[in-house]
Amino acid sequence: MTAPLRIAVLASGRGSNLAALLTARECGGLAIQPTLVASDKADAGALRLAEAAGVPTLALNPRSYPSRRDFDLDLFARIADSGAELIVLAGYMRILDGGALQPWVGRMINIHPSLLPKYRGLHTHRRALEAGDAEHGASVHYVTAELDGGPVIAQARISVMPNDDEDTLAQRLLAHEHRLLPAVVGCIAEGRLGLAGADTVLFDGAALTAPLRLLEGQLHPHP
Ligand code: GAR
Repeated sequence: MTAPLRIAVLASGRGSNLAALLTARECGGLAIQPTLVASDKADAGALRLAEAAGVPTLALNPRSYPSRRDFDLDLFARIADSGAELIVLAGYMRILDGGALQPWVGRMINIHPSLLPKYRGLHTHRRALEAGDAEHGASVHYVTAELDGGPVIAQARISVMPNDDEDTLAQRLLAHEHRLLPAVVGCIAEGRLGLAGADTVLFDGAALTAPLRLLEGQLHPHP
């Protein structure tokens, strides 16, 4: 048996995606060892979840640093010290400094609540509703210096219902995020996913031409 993948999780809020990873480890055999959960918000629910699970935590205050780059360099140094091999952004709401993140390209993923490249940034559910989209979804992508712009690994799709509002759409999508993120992390832990060059996602050794799709909890290449 190979060693579990050592991961650090960054989260700014309640931490339900972190909880999904921890549950998948406990109940679903996800082969991860969380080395650190870090936040830019000392009161983030994610930190309390991590403490309850016995995972080391770190809260850093951005206002204590002279610049974004200084903050991120310290954050990434502490993550490296924890022994993490992969950084998972799970509701981390701070923009990252492009230079500071460079050493982690190919080793850092983010979950974003839209079908990227649609709706980078904030208020994704509202924007999907305003555009009259029939489908909405979530994406997991490799993080690059371009905000929500790195190569997309996998997506979960849901239908937009006629009576959906921002909250119902977000709530319904979240349940799919909770399956999508552990599925992607699991494939990385098994060595089935990787980034080649600047923008080629490899799945089982083959370059993806479209994001993987989450179907019944499993990732599948788009036919
Ligand atoms: C999730 O919906 C995640 O996709 C989103 O924040 C939420 C965090 O929820 N991330 C972003 O918007 C990143 N741009 P959680 O704290 O319950 O996991």
